[in-house]
Amino acid sequence: MDLAGRYPNLHVSRHPLVAHKLALLRDRATEPKLFRELVRELSWLLGYEAMADLTTQPITVETPLEPTAGAELEPKVGLVPVLRAGLGMVDAMLELMPSAEVWHIGLYRDERSLKPVEYYNKLPDAATVQVCLILDPMLATGGSSSATVDILKHWGAARIKQVSLIAAPEGVATLSAAHPDVDIHVAAVDRALNERGYIVPGLGDAGDRQFGTFAGPSSEPGHASGDEAAEVVRQLQRTLSGEE
Ligand code: PRP
Ligand code: URA
Repeated sequence: MDLAGRYPNLHVSRHPLVAHKLALLRDRATEPKLFRELVRELSWLLGYEAMADLTTQPITVETPLEPTAGAELEPKVGLVPVLRAGLGMVDAMLELMPSAEVWHIGLYRDERSLKPVEYYNKLPDAATVQVCLILDPMLATGGSSSATVDILKHWGAARIKQVSLIAAPEGVATLSAAHPDVDIHVAAVDRALNERGYIVPGLGDAGDRQFGTFAGPSSEPGHASGDEAAEVVRQLQRTLSGEE
């Protein structure tokens, strides 16, 4: 069974504009300026699809000629960009939904253990929105997104969706096992994770490519991995293939 059949919460866009823009985004020759523009355009298109099932309530609008029936979005929506890379997705989503609240979560992935490390969270005590859209371009091992969902559920968010540009099968499996109620909207699901936990073919490091922070060969996605990261990836792949 293919991945979409196995995970009913997974929604992979079929839009030709998404496919076109994603190919440009992946291209190693795409410079940060164009990369940021593409992240924004893809976020708009994926956000539009991810919001397709938001509920509305009926309202009456006065046109210049007469009253007519209209609709108003019902739930209060929160955008939750995961720092850093999720920042590039915020503006497009705010264009779609100007009244959305933006709640930042700071997580980075430890490069050896591939586990998320939380460093920023200023959520108030009780949830102020009903629907949360987690914005993060990459769903790799799924550790960062699962941790973010844990935070948002603990906060009291009633409904949570993950919007990413590219997912790895391992990440879809991890997030879906931990949180089957979370819809995952992506432009593509790629082949696998490499031994450093990068998505292949992927696009490299989404944060570095947006913000131009290239620290040299040792930080590149293809560089030799540590044993610990490689073992984490092998374990995820065994789980995905049903061996464990
Ligand atoms: C990237 C990405 C996700 C995470 C995905 O962030 O933006 O947050 O990795 O990996 P996972 O699914 O294996 O957890 P990174 O840790 O590189 O931080 P950055 O955005 O600050 O560069
Ligand atoms: N984070 C990225 O930016 N890219 C990947 O491929 C995996 C994690």
